Amino acid sequence: MSKEMIEAVLIAGDGIGPDVTAAACEVIEAAGAPIKWLPMPAGLGAAATHGDVLPEITLAELRRTGVGLKGPVGTPIGGGFRSVNVTLRKALDLYAAVRPVRNLPGVTTRYEGVDLVIFRENTEGLYTGIENQIAPGVVTSMKVATEGACTRIAEYAFDYCVHRQRKKVSVFHKANIMKLTDGLFLRCAKAVRDAKYPQVEYEEIIIDNACMQLVRDPTRYDVLLMENLYGDLVSDLCAGMVGGLGVVPGANIGRDCAVFEAVHGSAPDIAGKGLANPLACLMSGVMMLNFLAEKLNSQACKTAAGRIKGAYDHVLVEGKIRTRDLGGLATTREFTNAIVAAL
Ligand code: NAI
Repeated sequence: MSKEMIEAVLIAGDGIGPDVTAAACEVIEAAGAPIKWLPMPAGLGAAATHGDVLPEITLAELRRTGVGLKGPVGTPIGGGFRSVNVTLRKALDLYAAVRPVRNLPGVTTRYEGVDLVIFRENTEGLYTGIENQIAPGVVTSMKVATEGACTRIAEYAFDYCVHRQRKKVSVFHKANIMKLTDGLFLRCAKAVRDAKYPQVEYEEIIIDNACMQLVRDPTRYDVLLMENLYGDLVSDLCAGMVGGLGVVPGANIGRDCAVFEAVHGSAPDIAGKGLANPLACLMSGVMMLNFLAEKLNSQACKTAAGRIKGAYDHVLVEGKIRTRDLGGLATTREFTNAIVAAL
């Protein structure tokens, strides 16, 4: 009997992107998930083939299907194209970046018991890209905070907290210096919590101290809520506690669309060598399946997500086949094969 297929956009991206997205799709298909992939261009490669790093057809397909899995894209430093990620998140209003960071079974790091979820405001802060040269040798970058955006990310984080039986939200900020912008972020978070979620423990912590506390004892934290740039930096910091960027997934969620992608970038240092860890991208795919399971009430997506998680946990615990970032010797292909076999 043919299953009803769910269409999802697939953006392979740049650098290690094509390798890790191909691996994720292969595993998701092998697990029997009812996903029909729609490959769409974006990234430096798309500039060559479509004359734009983020072609309109890609945005149109994401709007139509409401869901996508994305590989990382490269962004030239100090000039060149606009950032694909910033433009994509803005265009589709993907306001909530959700990044779960947990120790994985069988992957030993300096830290134990890490179980955090980072909520990063994804549409404003310093990522507005409003920069000006106001005089020769003097440039400015504008940080924007709006009550609407600060409130909705707080609502998303607290709502998640309650649904997932999480206990505490810690807001990282620098409102002692950025009194207006970070001050507004804090006020909105506190107002949301006091009005609707008084049962959730709440703390505000200045980000420099918060980073020190994080690396001393990440188990004191549960859900982290912060503005755009802080969320970007703290995500990588937390990834380092559980095995690196190869094992941390993510989602960019909006009201009408959700794009799932790993926290890592295009990793130019290992691109084209077949060495990338596809797990972060695969875990992002699992987040996508769970999202679809909930949104569409799809038992097939839920079952596939559970099977995939069981399979990669098994391979990691067995410990024989691992990519280099996790201390092994396996290639992307060998690790992917092992997960498919474990299914
Ligand atoms: P990166 O995340 O690409 O790499 C940082 C380090 O982590 C490198 O040593 C890399 O080899 C390693 N790494 C990353 N992913 C890995 C994986 N799956 N398996 C094994 N090792 C992995 O960060 P970097 O070098 O700062 O940025 C490279 C490019 O990626 C830049 O153009 C940047 O703008 C872009 N980028 C794109 C993102 C996205 O599309 N979501 C996110 C972050 C960066």
